[in-house]
Amino acid sequence: MSKPHPPINMAESTQPVPFIDLVAQYQTIRDEIREAVDRCFETQHFILGEEVTLLEQEIAQYCDARHAIGCASGTDALILALMALGVGPGDEVITSPFTFFASASAIHRVGARPVLVDIEPHSFNICPEQVAKAITPRTKAIMPVHIFGQCAEMEPLWRLSAKYKIPIVEDSAQAIGAEYRGRRTGVLGTIGCFSFFPTKNLGGAGDGGIMTTDDPELAARLKRLRVHGDMGGYNHVEVGYNSRLDALQATVLRVKLRHLDSWTEARNQNAARYAQLIQSNGLQDAIELPQVMKDRRHVFNQFTTRIKDGRRAAVIQSMKEQQIGCAVYYPIPLHLQKCFDYLGYKPGDLPESEKAAAEVLSLPIYSELPANHLERVIEGLSTALGRQNTLPFRQTQPPQRRAA
Ligand SMILES: Cc1ncc(COP(=O)(O)O)c(C=O)c1O
Repeated sequence: MSKPHPPINMAESTQPVPFIDLVAQYQTIRDEIREAVDRCFETQHFILGEEVTLLEQEIAQYCDARHAIGCASGTDALILALMALGVGPGDEVITSPFTFFASASAIHRVGARPVLVDIEPHSFNICPEQVAKAITPRTKAIMPVHIFGQCAEMEPLWRLSAKYKIPIVEDSAQAIGAEYRGRRTGVLGTIGCFSFFPTKNLGGAGDGGIMTTDDPELAARLKRLRVHGDMGGYNHVEVGYNSRLDALQATVLRVKLRHLDSWTEARNQNAARYAQLIQSNGLQDAIELPQVMKDRRHVFNQFTTRIKDGRRAAVIQSMKEQQIGCAVYYPIPLHLQKCFDYLGYKPGDLPESEKAAAEVLSLPIYSELPANHLERVIEGLSTALGRQNTLPFRQTQPPQRRAA
């Protein structure tokens, strides 16, 4: 049974509710960040160096991986991972169409062909049966994307990987700390790729990324690929990239990593509160909640609902009028993006991804989200759906008792 919730403070109920508020997070760690940034400036070491090495060790430990290699962004992490695995022209890599653009663009960027297969409707993650059907002799990697902070179904992918000897590159950009059967992302495949984009659960003060692996040879290759393929001493054994993680980013990220688990806990509490309010206010016929699948730890980078019956556009419009943040991740599945016309997909080819793209709506979930803002999101959704009068927290008086 869900607990009754306190009445909303009506005086505060007209405040705008941002979708994310990074200032609120910064305010809680300002002194720690400033002290760390000062330390970095005092050294004047800005590229790689000790702070990056320490962050790499700490992330490796956090993910239970043997190696972690920092780089300039999550996109670069994916590109470098594919390069390190030798993926290139003529190869195919299977991934999800329901993700941020970079998952597929990284495949394109290394000269390979993105093969996009449909998702499972309840998790929004790649469907292993569809992956199995898409494997060809040209398949050189499988790239599950742990979308919105929840791990893809890995067990069948592990079996396919072992059977066909195809490595798995995890796109863990949104899922640091997420777990599948007690194991964290980053060690659920051959290479794990993370983004430190500021809105991620572990976000830097700019772009950044990291790759994790248990394989020492891959780790060594990733390390040199990020510095122009240099083995050291201007000895370029292959052509790589300039994709290094800044020391300043590492400095900031090391401070934030100390808080990551408590922030993740707060995101989970927000998710639980949303679920409770959506249910207790009878909105579940119009709003489908995100599902936490069995054996997973969801880290809720996004709290992504579905708005049913074609009402999403109207709901978004109303939320905008009420100044309540919400967002659509992602409105166009990648198989229907103009730049991927050459792949030959057409509308209707990947129906679950297209349906998700038409229905999803993400609600504010960031760790510092004030309780009254969260309640206002529900109030706003109720208004948007024409239900405002049925909300218990709208009732300022307890229901009248009938005379005995
Ligand atoms: C699923 C996914 N993959 C890849 C990326 C790329 O990361 P970055 O923005 O750090 O390049 C992102 C980031 O937005 C992402 O969400």
